[in-house]
Amino acid sequence: MSITIPANISVEQTSKSRIQDVNFNSLQFGTVFTDHMFCCDFKDGKWQDARIVPFGPMTISPAAKVFHYGQAVFEGMKAYKDENGGVFMFRPDENFRRINKSSKRLAIPEFPEDLFFGALHRMLEMDKDWIKPGLGNSLYIRPFAIATQVGVSASAANEYRFYIILSPAQAYYTGEVKVVFSEHYSRAADGGVGFAKAAGNYGAQFYPTNLAKEKGFNQVIWTDSHTHEYLEEAGTMNIFFRIDDTLLTAPTSDRILDGVTRKSLLKLADYLGINAEVKRVRVDEIKQAHREGRLMEIFGAGTAAVISPISAFSHGDETFDLPVLEDSYASMFKQKLMDIQYNRSEDPFNWRHQVC
Ligand code: COI
Repeated sequence: MSITIPANISVEQTSKSRIQDVNFNSLQFGTVFTDHMFCCDFKDGKWQDARIVPFGPMTISPAAKVFHYGQAVFEGMKAYKDENGGVFMFRPDENFRRINKSSKRLAIPEFPEDLFFGALHRMLEMDKDWIKPGLGNSLYIRPFAIATQVGVSASAANEYRFYIILSPAQAYYTGEVKVVFSEHYSRAADGGVGFAKAAGNYGAQFYPTNLAKEKGFNQVIWTDSHTHEYLEEAGTMNIFFRIDDTLLTAPTSDRILDGVTRKSLLKLADYLGINAEVKRVRVDEIKQAHREGRLMEIFGAGTAAVISPISAFSHGDETFDLPVLEDSYASMFKQKLMDIQYNRSEDPFNWRHQVC
């Protein structure tokens, strides 16, 4: 993909970088942001005033529709640096496609491709010192769009702002990840917005996730809203189960995010000759496999979480511990994926996108 930076993106450099104040060895996910951000406004029926400016607060009316009706979508992407200082993104075309799919569902106007990639390239060049080399270091990229039109009538806005902000990142989950299989609360329903990266999908998970945390678990694995018998996704990541040597994951649907890491793992599994089945996964099937000693591992896959092994799950009153495997699929996939992302191996699928 060759990128021409559109001439209509204006750039204002920061007068003083904040990079010296950052301890890159102990980053808490999503708390530190680079020197610059991108903004672009939708007004009078078109995206305009595309600009890269110093990162900082911006004034938005308390009557902006985003605050009242949650018209907001986002993406999660990452940039990586190799040992020679080259900067790469991983399948960014997938995120571009998906943010516009999410926007469409939330009645937000789609964002132009040249501005998206032009802004990303220019920002990553400007803030590349914030990307540290070494496996596990990355720059988390958060594009998002919000309704800025002033007014509390409950209808789609006619003004929006698109932002891109950048955050140096290490691990999303530190330590063990223990999950609860949901029996009551639901994340998404047929015909809803579960497939979209709509802000409200995430906010609605916080209360049930807090209940899980009170019981010593970190995350909820959402089940289908009709029966709670089928395992769907974790909200921050898609979910994979390994029974014997077969990998299982739920098919994407109205209710499940079409994760970039998820689809990359399925492709890698095929490439490596690992049997992977995309099918509805029953809670009972997983519990049964655990009882029979055939449930080898469960792991989550997502941009922020990368690949996160699950150490235990609970359902009802029972908790099921999972073994720590030396030769887990999770660590093998993580290694293969990172080798591609950090330009340490061949890229047979053309997933790596060099920025500078
Ligand atoms: C991502 O992996 O980018 C996500 O969307 C998870 C996020 C909610 C932290």
